Amino acid sequence: MSASKSDYFMNIAVIGAGYVGLVTGACLAELGNNVVCVDIDKRKINKLKQGKVPIYEPGLEEIVRKNLTRKRLAFTTKIEKAVNFGEIIFICVGTPARKDGSADLSYLEKAAEQIAKLAKDNKIVVIKSTVPVLTARKVHKILKQHSKSNVEFYVISNPEFLREGSAVKDFMNPDRIVIGGINKEAIRKVCELYRPFNVPILETTPESAEIIKHASNSFLATKISFINMVANLCEKVNANIKDVALGIGLDKRIGTAFLNAGIGFGGSCFPKDIEAFIKVGEKHRCNFALLKEVIKINVRQRKLFVKKIEDVLYGLENKTIAVLGLAFKPNTDDIRKAPAIEIIRLLLDKGAKIKAYDPKAMDNMRKIFPHIQYCNNPYETLANSDAMVLITEWEEFKKLNFEKVKKIMKQAIIIDGRNYLPHNRLERIGFTYVGVGI
Ligand SMILES: NC(=O)c1ccc[n+]([C@@H]2O[C@H](COP(=O)([O-])OP(=O)(O)OC[C@H]3O[C@@H](n4cnc5c(N)ncnc54)[C@H](O)[C@@H]3O)[C@@H](O)[C@H]2O)c1
Repeated sequence: MSASKSDYFMNIAVIGAGYVGLVTGACLAELGNNVVCVDIDKRKINKLKQGKVPIYEPGLEEIVRKNLTRKRLAFTTKIEKAVNFGEIIFICVGTPARKDGSADLSYLEKAAEQIAKLAKDNKIVVIKSTVPVLTARKVHKILKQHSKSNVEFYVISNPEFLREGSAVKDFMNPDRIVIGGINKEAIRKVCELYRPFNVPILETTPESAEIIKHASNSFLATKISFINMVANLCEKVNANIKDVALGIGLDKRIGTAFLNAGIGFGGSCFPKDIEAFIKVGEKHRCNFALLKEVIKINVRQRKLFVKKIEDVLYGLENKTIAVLGLAFKPNTDDIRKAPAIEIIRLLLDKGAKIKAYDPKAMDNMRKIFPHIQYCNNPYETLANSDAMVLITEWEEFKKLNFEKVKKIMKQAIIIDGRNYLPHNRLERIGFTYVGVGI
């Protein structure tokens, strides 16, 4: 962890103890602040009080336990306790997609209403949830409307850029911190809180901060869809997308990150944030057709992948498919909008039988697909299967004994949705290997 401790500690409240709120609360406590996290989910809070982290996130449980013991971190379901404890209140509640793609701000609005009704003195309210532009203004209005006493609220937009799977590391080592606000003293206080990170802090307006988050995620997703578009050409003309991506990415103006061809993006952020940004564009009569195409390419990518599995197996009816990896990315148990869901659904529709394995995400996936077969390890999954389909690039899948795998599978076929496995070695062993754009 590279953030150093501050010599000025604050009392912080965090509303919503999910992936973002819990990491924010635990890391701010780790830096020496006193933090109270509140959540409406009683089961979650009961677990957290005992030092048990309800999600899988490397390094998180350790700092939660440490700071619980040091009494710098507390968990509660009583929002009044948190609101009156924090001089700064972080809102980290979910902002899921509505049916039409726009962001559902009801959790955020409810949290703002509660803060307003309960606050007994002035508060800095920091919006960390990802929200459409102009939400900070709306939140300020709600705070003023529901406030009973003569209390001032200063709203700051402070979007979060952590990635699940490396959330603690990302929170502690951000590339930049964005702070959007109007009141100079509130901005100064939040900057002070982040001073130990020693990274660029961009001070801006709430509107710009809100757009920065949506635009960042949309740009990264655009890179992914772009490379997938090029990968589909590579396949047709016998070029190799890995070489092409490297050749593009070594140009410093472009960079190599987010140029891995595969089955496209998923997760709780990219799909919903891009849809929400498109809606923002529509609302303000801006043409966001580029982002609509990004989504279309992403959806098409899963279908093309299933078609590849179907083609290499000469049909899917009654074929047994070993699906390795269910989480939307490695090192997390999160399956929200995971590509695995769509791919398994398409495979089942075409009559395939699914055996599945993931080191952390099987309990979550059981809630969506209770009737597929879940296995204890990759070998059990691969035994007597017609094909291995790699969906999530967990490190343990690269370390498999592929000679043994070849012996236990019914057919030696690997379809690699992430171009992750050692292609040439697998072909030497005798596998039919199918990647994306190679
Ligand atoms: N997950 C990520 O990788 C990530 C990264 C950056 C930004 N974000 C954004 O951060 C926000 C939170 O995402 P998340 O993944 O942590 O969501 P999450 O669903 O894991 O957590 C949200 C939590 O808020 C709680 N909650 C809802 N209303 C509440 C209320 N009134 N009082 C107290 N608790 C309440 C829920 O019970 C839940 O535990 C979203 O806007 C998301 O887009 C997420």
